[in-house]
Amino acid sequence: ADLTPLNSFGLPGRAQHLLRVESVGQLSAALAAPELAALPRTLLGGGSNVIVSGDIEGLVLQVAIRGREVLAREGRSILVRAGAGESWHAFVEWTLAQQAYGLENLALIPGSVGASPIQNIGAYGVEAGERIETVECFDFATRASFSLSGRECAFGYRDSCFKHRLAGRVLVTAVTFRLDAEPAPRYAYADLRHELEQRGCTTPTPQDVFDAVCTVRQRKLPDPARIGNAGSFFKNPLVDAALAARLRDEYPELVAYAQADGRVKLAAGWLIERCGWKGRRLGPVGVYDRQALVLVNHGGATGAEVLALAAAIRADVEARFGVTLEQEPVVL
Ligand code: EPU
Repeated sequence: ADLTPLNSFGLPGRAQHLLRVESVGQLSAALAAPELAALPRTLLGGGSNVIVSGDIEGLVLQVAIRGREVLAREGRSILVRAGAGESWHAFVEWTLAQQAYGLENLALIPGSVGASPIQNIGAYGVEAGERIETVECFDFATRASFSLSGRECAFGYRDSCFKHRLAGRVLVTAVTFRLDAEPAPRYAYADLRHELEQRGCTTPTPQDVFDAVCTVRQRKLPDPARIGNAGSFFKNPLVDAALAARLRDEYPELVAYAQADGRVKLAAGWLIERCGWKGRRLGPVGVYDRQALVLVNHGGATGAEVLALAAAIRADVEARFGVTLEQEPVVL
C-alpha cells in the first residue's frame, strides 16, 4: 500500500501490509493470526508527525477508531471521550459545541486524537496532558486492553511514557478528557494575546480563543494539504542557565523562557533563523519562510532529503550556539 497520501509531509514509501484498524475487536482478531502477529509493527495515526524514510517491512497499523461522546457532567467538569482515529481539530470543535472548554488553544493541530497523549501536543500555553483523564490502550503482548490515568502517562514537554516505557508495546485506542463547564480562557501567550487585542476582544470567550488561534496558526504555519510538512521539526531545546546566560551576553535578542526547574527553553526557530536557514531550499525540501522551525516538502521530496536538510540545520545550530536540537517527528 502507498503511504504517500497517509503522511502530511507527502513523503513516498510503501507498506508491505497495511491494516486499517477500526475497532479494538478487529485488531485483536487480526493479531490472533500468528502470521500477522509475528510481523514487525509500525503504528500510524494521522501521519502528521512522521517522516516516511522509504518502504516499510511488516505490518503498518493505521488507527481509524471513531466515536465521540460526552461521558458525564460532574459539577464543573465534563468528561468527554473520543476514539483514537478521530481528527483532533474536529474533536476540539465538537467539544466547544458541547460547551466543554479547555482545548480551544489546541485548535487546528493536525493529526488524530490518539496521537495527543503520545507526544503531549501543546500550543499557545496549553498542553493536552493537562486535560487527559485516561488513555485506553491495546497491549500487543496480551492482546487485552487497559487504561492509564493521566498521571501514569508521565506527561512532559512533547513527551510521555508512550515514547519510553510503552514504546512499541501498545496502541492508543481512545482518550478521555476532563474539560470545564465554566469557560476559563487562557491567552497569555504573546501571539495569541496580540491577535485578540487586534480583534478588540477584551474578555474573550473560548470561541474567540479558538478563532484567534486558527488565525495565528494559518498566518505562521503551512497547511499540510498544500505544502507537505510535519509541524515543528525540532523541539525547543532546554539548556542550563549558564549556557543561556552566555548566549544572552552574545545575543541580547535571544528568545528564551526560564523554566521552573532553573533551566531555560530556547526558541529553536530563532536559533535556526539566525543561522540563515529561514526560507532556504535544498532541492525539493526547505525551511518555511514564515516559521524556521518547520521544514517543508516543496514537491517530490524523499524522507532522505528531509533528513539531510535536518542534519545540516542541526550541525549549524550546534556549531554556532553549542545547542543540540532534538528532532520531533518520528522516522518510520
Ligand atoms: N521565532 C523566530 N523565528 C522563527 C520562528 C520563531 O525568531 O522563524 C521566535 C518567535 O519570534 C517567537 C518564538 O520564536 O519569539 C516562538 O515562536 P512561535 O510562537 O512561533 O512558537 P515556537 O516556539 O516556534 C512552539 C511549538 C508549536 C506551537 C507554538 C505555539 C514546539 C516544538 N513548537 O513553536 O507547536 O504551535 O509554540 O505554542 O514546541 C508543533 O509542535 O508542531 C507546533 C507547531
